[in-house]
Amino acid sequence: MSRTRLISALVGIIILLVGAAIYVYNDRPAENFEQVSTSALIGGDFALTDHNGKAVTQDDYKGVKKLVFFGFTNCPAVCPTELYNIATTLDELGAENAKKIQVLFISIDPEQDTPEMMKEYVEAFHDDFIGLTGTVEQVAKAAKAFRVYYARIPEEDSEIGYTMDHSAYSYLMDENNQYLTHLPPNSEIEDMVVKIREFL
Ligand code: NI
Repeated sequence: MSRTRLISALVGIIILLVGAAIYVYNDRPAENFEQVSTSALIGGDFALTDHNGKAVTQDDYKGVKKLVFFGFTNCPAVCPTELYNIATTLDELGAENAKKIQVLFISIDPEQDTPEMMKEYVEAFHDDFIGLTGTVEQVAKAAKAFRVYYARIPEEDSEIGYTMDHSAYSYLMDENNQYLTHLPPNSEIEDMVVKIREFL
């Protein structure tokens, strides 16, 4: 092979690799989050049902900050860990600060998660957490507003025959439902306390 041909072949391979890397990167919405998190792109009105069976929109939570997290009650590990960490973070912030933040846990598996199930589930973590669910369409719209990725994955070992893959960021929203910041999954509690305290 001539030198020129070798160089063109190498350049071709590099272009292919870069293309593949870009493709793989863009194909992972959960990890691509940082690119879109810079401004008011997160959040938006939703119409859902709270864990007492009441129809709600984001305007029902005006005047208080919100920590919004999407998940499902059959989640084997991620959701329980995050909800436990959020509850502990609120405890660390103290009762006065905790009152300024309403935690909203929004189901991305509404076919399983009835309001009753959401109530029982969130109250296991914290008395003041609110669980929200809705129709499949309502949940899809809410998840889209918060740029939350989720997908049903068949799983034989699961009681319900599937599990849900989902992004697990928590979003801090202000009193007027504007995005303030987000907490990545598996954050250390101390880091969550520091990050949230900045906005109180
Ligand atoms: Ni989960």
